[in-house]
Amino acid sequence: MKFLAAILLLIVAVAMADQDEDSWNFYKFQFGRKHSPKDEAGRRRNFIARQRRIEKHNREHAEWQMGHNKFSDMSDDEKLALLGANPVIRRERLVSAEASLPVLDRALPASIDYRTDKCMQPIKNQGQCGSCWSFATVVPLEFNTCKKTGTAVALSEQMMVDCDTGNGGCNGGMYDRAWQFIQGKGGVMKSSAYAYTSGSSGLKGTTCKFDSTAIGAKVSSFGWTMPYPNQTVSMTYLQSDGPLPSAIKVLDSLYNYASGVYSDPACIVADENDVAHAVVIVGYGTTTATTTVPATPYWIVRNSWGTGWGLSGYFLIKRGVNMCNIESWTAYVRVV
Ligand SMILES: *[C@@H]1O[C@H](CO)[C@@H](O)[C@H](O)[C@H]1NC(C)=O
Repeated sequence: MKFLAAILLLIVAVAMADQDEDSWNFYKFQFGRKHSPKDEAGRRRNFIARQRRIEKHNREHAEWQMGHNKFSDMSDDEKLALLGANPVIRRERLVSAEASLPVLDRALPASIDYRTDKCMQPIKNQGQCGSCWSFATVVPLEFNTCKKTGTAVALSEQMMVDCDTGNGGCNGGMYDRAWQFIQGKGGVMKSSAYAYTSGSSGLKGTTCKFDSTAIGAKVSSFGWTMPYPNQTVSMTYLQSDGPLPSAIKVLDSLYNYASGVYSDPACIVADENDVAHAVVIVGYGTTTATTTVPATPYWIVRNSWGTGWGLSGYFLIKRGVNMCNIESWTAYVRVV
């Protein structure tokens, strides 16, 4: 009997190892991975750990799902390089000369979704550079300038990475400071004249190539949505002033977000300064209740990790509970 049980266990173990090998091989095929023999074992270990985590999460949670993506075989250090909201800079909370505030008691629509607006540029990819802040900086400038002129415009993240010495390039920064920098420069260049090159390692700090003849947008004023955290205030600004950059705490689970409304009790924290990644709120709504999950209010958030991540580059996160501090860092910017 004992012997039979041992054999059975062995068969199960072999079958699981086989399954792991199949999953790993399929992953490498799907994501075009060709690791050197030196890297292979470590990458495989990262992947298998992720695989277990994803299976466990999806078994235990119905509100949101995890799945494999380009981050599945990365180490923790590599994942940290995908962030970049800088903790020293963000405490300053700059506000430019104040423009009129939106009326806060206006009737808000049940939902807003700017993702498909013709003024929203395609999702971009910061790559292995902590430049999320620069991507968050340009999204509302692209959107609001297009609303004003009627013409879509893509703006340069690289300009801030290379030229904005008040921020830290690939080592992080903050969008309020970047808007102040852009004001000082007289505008931000079009990306057609200053393309993003910092995504692959080795191209981090290039020299500043500012050219005022290629400016595509100008900042008139900017500020934090106040009081914060306050979802009604953020929703109102979203409607009156377009996409709102914000900063969030990033838990390891977010890297493999695949669908649903992201939430994690560990991401509701008392310290509002506990944030590490800049993103952009581009909408809100409420899910319809299902038999397993109640109706859930959410924000629609734009990330800068490429279209292969999350919902074609976007994610939903629970609204109204300051999840990951997202309601503490919303800021608006107006264009000339
Ligand atoms: C949000 O801000 C509005 C406007 O200042 C205020 O009336 C409301 O009480 C605030 N809500 C919370 C939950 O603080």
